[in-house]
Amino acid sequence: MNSGPPALAALGDFHPADTWQVHVNHIFYGTKGPGIHNHFQTYVSRDHRLAHALADAFHSFCQSLPADDTAPLEVQEWGVGNGNLAARFLSRLRDIDSTGCAYPRLQYTLCDYSLEILKGVEANPHLQDHAGRFATAHLDARDMGGLAPHSLTWVLSNEIWDDLATRVLIKSQGTLYEEYLQPLIDRAVLDGDFETFLNRFENADLEALQAQPPFLEHIVWERAFQRTDLGDWPFGEVVRQHMESIGDDIPVPINAGAFGTLEKAHRLLAPGRSFGYTGFDYGMLDLEHLNWEGRPYFKLYGGQYTSMVNFPLLADVGRAIGFQNVDREPQHTFVHRNLGEPVISLVELVQNHPRVAEMAPWDVDVLMLETLQALNNRYRSPYPNRLDYPTLPGTPKKQRKLMQQLIQNMNARGVPDTVAYITESEVRAADKTLRKLGYREKDIQRSFHPANAAIQFCRLTLR
Ligand SMILES: C[S@@+](CC[C@H](N)C(=O)[O-])C[C@H]1O[C@@H](n2cnc3c(N)ncnc32)[C@H](O)[C@@H]1O
Repeated sequence: MNSGPPALAALGDFHPADTWQVHVNHIFYGTKGPGIHNHFQTYVSRDHRLAHALADAFHSFCQSLPADDTAPLEVQEWGVGNGNLAARFLSRLRDIDSTGCAYPRLQYTLCDYSLEILKGVEANPHLQDHAGRFATAHLDARDMGGLAPHSLTWVLSNEIWDDLATRVLIKSQGTLYEEYLQPLIDRAVLDGDFETFLNRFENADLEALQAQPPFLEHIVWERAFQRTDLGDWPFGEVVRQHMESIGDDIPVPINAGAFGTLEKAHRLLAPGRSFGYTGFDYGMLDLEHLNWEGRPYFKLYGGQYTSMVNFPLLADVGRAIGFQNVDREPQHTFVHRNLGEPVISLVELVQNHPRVAEMAPWDVDVLMLETLQALNNRYRSPYPNRLDYPTLPGTPKKQRKLMQQLIQNMNARGVPDTVAYITESEVRAADKTLRKLGYREKDIQRSFHPANAAIQFCRLTLR
């Protein structure tokens, strides 16, 4: 009997990190479609508050346009997930647009490179409310073809840059090294003949791979670094200067795919009549965060390979492309400004509970639902929703039953999701119940005033 470690088989050669990242993410989105949200929620996949903040900001921009400007307002969202951001944005814009300066003139196009994702978006019932105001387009955010230059009023995206091609550099004693990756897999997790699978994987045969038992999450990534010079890199000179401000031996993501989206947006946006490109993502906001030793530079979620976004570099590249105004801030600050009070996500409150680190995962789930219920006494969502909270495999019967009861009794206008934004006053209104659940004053204080973190959700706007 063979009881040694599994023999890993190579799924290809070593290539620069971006080559493999793009390949596996194409397979991830192309095989899972809107099922991606079973793997992760984003700040916009169920919640409405970021979408509303964007609608308010866009509406102010529309109000500032000259009265005789009656041309259509062309907006594109790139990388759309389940379409919830668009649906909530459109609903808010319609509600606040009493003068008709924005909503009736809007043409909002949801763009994605995955047909599976677009199929899901087209079936999103909340979008159907806005028939005539939106369209979908099968489009690769990296591709420069398509629309006429200077035709768009606004481009937005949430959590797309982290998915796009990202190379990784390390500086050591004045020399630059690039990260190379090689995917390996234990043959035992695959069904059928290995060579057939390899062929399907290499060719990204989405239909055949969809029928395959899950394999992406079983890929093991081998890493190596090779000396490089930046001669043929996109924006090589900007990257070279950027690396001068980074310490030795710190892996630095170079989000080259995101550079492409900035170039594309710059070409498509109408100069003088545009609200720019607004992108949200997670990564390093400032040089201080980039130079943080030991900070992560990539993340694996259920087989999807994402990279941390290097915001200072994106800002420099944006300026090199020709954007005149480039600004960035933590995403929470953007939502805070819109709501007029500090915000956190529900999960950030739960993470600050004094016992969370020692709890079993299912007890954390119960705490999450109990915290959510406590907040629901005050919280009122403008949209009815049904909380979807699957139990973890292995959850004991007692906790499973408790969770079912909590979910059944959840207010349909309650907090929609574990990463939904909640305000300080909503948390304060639940003070008494939160105390009973074990939260102390200092835990709540810490949730709203966290220590500086290397990685955070950020907004970048380029005009
Ligand atoms: C992490 S999901 C985010 C979805 C949504 N924006 C949200 O925040 O819930 C990334 C999305 O970008 C899409 N995407 C990834 N790479 C893309 C590309 N090169 N062009 C267009 N869409 C892309 C994926 O299909 C997916 O819908």
